[in-house]
Amino acid sequence: MISDSAPNQSPPRPTALAWMMLRDWIRPGDTVIDATAGNGHDTVFLAERVGPTGKVLAFDVQDAAIAASRLRVEEAGTAARVEFHRCSHALMGKFAEAGSVAAIMFNLGYLPGEDHDLTTTTSGTLSALEAAGRLLRPGGFLSVICYPGHEGGMEEACSVESWLTAKSSDHWRLAKYAMLGTRRPAPFLLIASKG
Ligand SMILES: C[S@@+](CC[C@H](N)C(=O)[O-])C[C@H]1O[C@@H](n2cnc3c(N)ncnc32)[C@H](O)[C@@H]1O
Repeated sequence: MISDSAPNQSPPRPTALAWMMLRDWIRPGDTVIDATAGNGHDTVFLAERVGPTGKVLAFDVQDAAIAASRLRVEEAGTAARVEFHRCSHALMGKFAEAGSVAAIMFNLGYLPGEDHDLTTTTSGTLSALEAAGRLLRPGGFLSVICYPGHEGGMEEACSVESWLTAKSSDHWRLAKYAMLGTRRPAPFLLIASKG
C-alpha cells in the first residue's frame, strides 16, 4: 500500500494511480465512499481530501478490517469525518442519497495479512457497482482496482470491466490502466466518470 510520503514507483502502481487521479477531483465538503476499507489506507486518503466538513462512508465485511481502518483514521486525526459500516458494500445505497456522492473507490480482492479466501466476489461487487452508479452525482468519479491473479479474481475482474464498458452507452467516460510484462495477470485500475 502507499502513502502520500512514500516514494513513487515508476510507472505507478494502480493504487498510487487511483490516488493521483482522485486527489484533485475530490473537494472539501464532499461525501465519498470507500467500498473496501481493508487496512484503511484509502479511507485516510479520502478523509484527508474531503476535509473537516466532508464525509467518508467506509464499508468492509471483516471486523479486522474495520478495526484496522478505524485505528488508522484515529491516528490521522480524521475519525470524526468517517462513518464505518461493517456490512457488504452491496448495501451502500441504504446510507446515502442517490446522486449525492462525489467519488467511490473499490480496491477488490482480499485483506493482506488475513484470510486470503475471504475476497470480494463477482456477484457482490456487481451489486455494489449498481448501487454506486445510483449514488454518484453526475460527473462523479468511480475507481476500481481489480486483481485477476487470485482464485476467482479473473472472473470478477472481467465482469467488472464488462459492467463498466456497458456504461459508455449512458455517456460515462471510461479508462483502464494496466501494467505490462508481469509474470502473473497484473492488477489493473478502472476509472469512470458518471455521465
Ligand atoms: C484489498 S482489501 C482493501 C484495501 C484497502 N482499500 C486499503 O486501503 O487498505 C479488500 C477488502 O475488501 C473487503 N471485502 C470483501 N468483500 C466485501 C464486501 N462484500 N463488502 C465490503 N468489503 C468487502 C475485504 O474484507 C478486504 O478488507
